[in-house]
Amino acid sequence: MKIITVALQKGGVGKTSTAVSLAVELAKSGRTILIDADPQGNATTWLNIQTMQYEFADLLNGKCGMEQCVNQTSTPNLFIIPTAGIGGELKEYSENKAGGNQGKIKKTLKEIAKNFDYCVIDTSPSFGNFERGIFYATNEIVAVLQLDEFSKDGLQIFNDRLQSFINDNLEEDEARPTFNKIVFNAKDDRISQQGIILNQFMPLKEHGYNLYVIPVDQAYRKVQSAHIAIQDFTGTKKETLDTIKKLAEDLK
Ligand SMILES: Nc1ncnc2c1ncn2[C@@H]1O[C@H](COP(=O)(O)OP(=O)(O)OP(=O)(O)O)[C@@H](O)[C@H]1O
Ligand SMILES: [Mg+2]
Repeated sequence: MKIITVALQKGGVGKTSTAVSLAVELAKSGRTILIDADPQGNATTWLNIQTMQYEFADLLNGKCGMEQCVNQTSTPNLFIIPTAGIGGELKEYSENKAGGNQGKIKKTLKEIAKNFDYCVIDTSPSFGNFERGIFYATNEIVAVLQLDEFSKDGLQIFNDRLQSFINDNLEEDEARPTFNKIVFNAKDDRISQQGIILNQFMPLKEHGYNLYVIPVDQAYRKVQSAHIAIQDFTGTKKETLDTIKKLAEDLK
């Protein structure tokens, strides 16, 4: 059992794209659960879970049991705990109920993960009480960035928050989430500035970080509206698929 959280406090960088693709890839080697922990419910929409009876917030609110909110997806071995975007209750939960409930969030996630080989959590761009509860349960964090002039600051802020969360909340002997994997998403070779920015991140390798570059790939938009995985679409770039494979391999 391994809990992997895909995160970064910036919207639209490709967290959901990475989380769903990674979950599909991991499902090839073990039972995998994807948890949609973003009130927008984008991962749920992508995988076309329309007939859900219960969502993640119902489990956290004690309105259903775990089995009741686990949904099968069309990918073998891949299951999802969904979140209903419109009309869903996760927004209310994360904003008003997560405070003081981090222990419960951690326990719930650990309980879920027990039944699977891999658990992938897609998060929103926030870093609040709800996300802290998720980090409590997390074994590995994967950050997703885009190569623009603010990405260095974005990573710095994320890392600072994460470290202060760890220092303020976890005892010396408590397990800490590993953070040494960074995905640079939607790299466009025609934009030379992106190459320059990527080079500025390279020294991180000497500090034990693994860097993954996913090219700009129109396949993402297409598969999301067609409700399929990038692995099941013939137009996906080889480099995209290879990077997702490598990321999954390194997370096993
Ligand atoms: N490598 C890529 N190349 C081109 N487009 C991409 C790529 N990755 C993601 N996209 C597109 O960028 C948009 C944002 O991606 P995504 O929803 O994964 O970001 P996010 O970080 O989860 O956003 P949010 O913070 O709102 O949850 C989507 O329309 C997606 O199709
Ligand atoms: Mg998202």
